[in-house]
Amino acid sequence: MNQLSLHQLIAKNLLKKKTSTSPTDLFELRLATNLTLIKNLFFSLYPESDHLGSFNKLMTLLPKLYDERPVELKKIDLERQQEGNWYLSEKMLGMQLYVDHFNKDVNGLSEKLEYFENLGVNFLHLMPITKRPKEENDGGYAVNSYHEIDKKYGTKEDLLALTSKLRSKNMYLMLDFVVNHTSDEFEWAKKAMKGDKKYQDYYYTYPDRTIPDQFEQSLPEVFPETSPGNYTYNPEMQRWVMTVFNSYQWDLNYSNPEVFLEMLGNLMKLTNMGVDVVRFDALAFLWKKMGTDSQNLPEAHQLISLFRMCLQTIAPGVILLAEAITAPTQIIKYFGEGDMKGNECEVAYNATLMALLWNSIATKKTVLLNKSLEHLPKKPKEATWINYIRCHDDIGLGFDDNDIYSIGWDAQEHRKFLLHYYCQKLDWSPAKGLMFMYNPKNGDGRITGSAASLLGLEKGLENKDEKLISQALTKIITMHSIILSYGGMPLIYAGDEIGTLNDYSYQEEKGKSDDSRWVNRPKQDWKVIAQLEKGNTPQAHIFHSLKKLIEIRKSNPIFADNNNLILHHHHNPHLLIYERTSKDQNGLLVICNFDDHVHGVEKSWLEKIGFGEEKELTDLVSGQPIPLQSNHLEIGANEFYWIASN
Ligand code: GLC
Repeated sequence: MNQLSLHQLIAKNLLKKKTSTSPTDLFELRLATNLTLIKNLFFSLYPESDHLGSFNKLMTLLPKLYDERPVELKKIDLERQQEGNWYLSEKMLGMQLYVDHFNKDVNGLSEKLEYFENLGVNFLHLMPITKRPKEENDGGYAVNSYHEIDKKYGTKEDLLALTSKLRSKNMYLMLDFVVNHTSDEFEWAKKAMKGDKKYQDYYYTYPDRTIPDQFEQSLPEVFPETSPGNYTYNPEMQRWVMTVFNSYQWDLNYSNPEVFLEMLGNLMKLTNMGVDVVRFDALAFLWKKMGTDSQNLPEAHQLISLFRMCLQTIAPGVILLAEAITAPTQIIKYFGEGDMKGNECEVAYNATLMALLWNSIATKKTVLLNKSLEHLPKKPKEATWINYIRCHDDIGLGFDDNDIYSIGWDAQEHRKFLLHYYCQKLDWSPAKGLMFMYNPKNGDGRITGSAASLLGLEKGLENKDEKLISQALTKIITMHSIILSYGGMPLIYAGDEIGTLNDYSYQEEKGKSDDSRWVNRPKQDWKVIAQLEKGNTPQAHIFHSLKKLIEIRKSNPIFADNNNLILHHHHNPHLLIYERTSKDQNGLLVICNFDDHVHGVEKSWLEKIGFGEEKELTDLVSGQPIPLQSNHLEIGANEFYWIASN
């Protein structure tokens, strides 16, 4: 049972006789209930012998932050606390976008809410919109402020107007909290550069290379091509500073409790603008320890839980998304383990599923996918995934080497094949992706490119190859059918709903040209969108197909995430089969074929898993019964079925 469930229990049993319980009483109750956890987490990171003063500061900070929370949001917090786990619903359907690339600025976005409603989207992830350095800024992930809106996007008032409009339409908003680092123009960095010791201790700064060199021995490189190493020399400060990402992104020193206290304040300023889900950016990197890779450390988890418990005390309606694009067995830990199970992040990116799907597209096989999913520990019931196929970042090939070897493949050679398949090194491959951050030292590389270009639409259109175009369209829809039906919140990457191709214009832009992730950050094409209802174009086909799938998802509670997913293993190596079970209604069977040929599933096998016998199998998409061919259910090349049994 996590802390939220505990608060619900208290409200139901203990408080029902007290008619006069005010929101503040409830805050105090949450504080009292969470206090032991908060205290233990705090002192496990910052020993009591040295940091009692900082803990006392936290105790005065929490009520202050609660007082500052807008009344309207406090009301919603309580409704959500009552309702519990609202984010598990089948009604959740997300879209991620760059505000300026979508429709100019925050007001421009606000004018387009109907577009989302038409498609069925009710949850928006806006890429960073706060102040950042003018030129290089990692798409806004180098922050100059955690809550001041960059004027390119509008004003704070514009954002407040947007969040209020979203609330009136029952839509949700996710914004980033770049918790691991600030830009080198952030006020703390500027003070540090001027020699202010207090702020130098907000970062990891060193007078010489002694400690950096020791750290480097075990630290991997995130951007080896453009920002090799993990430290940058700052001439003004005459010190080395830790910069795990780009040289202008300074890692925050969370071993200093003052940093945690200030960042908690920043987190609340951001959420108080009406944010429902906070994306904890690059959270795997939050704690550094010499001799380790400084990722996913136990202290990082304690720190995130500490943020979580404080946030849950102040604003129980706000939840956290873990952006941990890391090894499969590590990702699941961000939901919290042991005593903290269910008390860390409520949502995490399902990066494992995403990477494995791309693996299955390239190999046309699901062996690695099935093997890896089978090895994943079950998530807590109050946690859920964000399921996605593309986002603004690259695709990392973060599968577990042991899983690759266990199916008889060579891990290194296999990764090489995937890079070649997606990055235009194989003539026969339909994919048009680019290589990202290739590291010749170890042969590692990642992949960039839009979903449509990676799935063959760009090449098909270029070559006027009708077969390739049609194959690409089928693949695009099947990939989305998986993220829509696999338990969790589907997140569509803006532009993918209309098959947007790679955008190569970044190659001419200062501050962007050496970062090929910009190829998959295209402008929303409103001309294409204006034609969606008219023509029989590939874009219209994708849009209307996805819209239909979304409608089906949103009208059927079987799609809600109740930890009700069972993987079925079929001997055919091209198929992915899973079931969404339900106690009180018929389950949903999903079958996807990753091959370019038709494949069949035997009637007898379907009977064994409870689909078949006397039951009629219905294709949820067409609404028609599915005929069996020679006692086989046939799935077309690259196609899928959502099957209900009656
Ligand atoms: C996250 C973002 C990525 C950014 C990095 C550093 O991984 O998704 O775009 O480069 O954090 O902030």
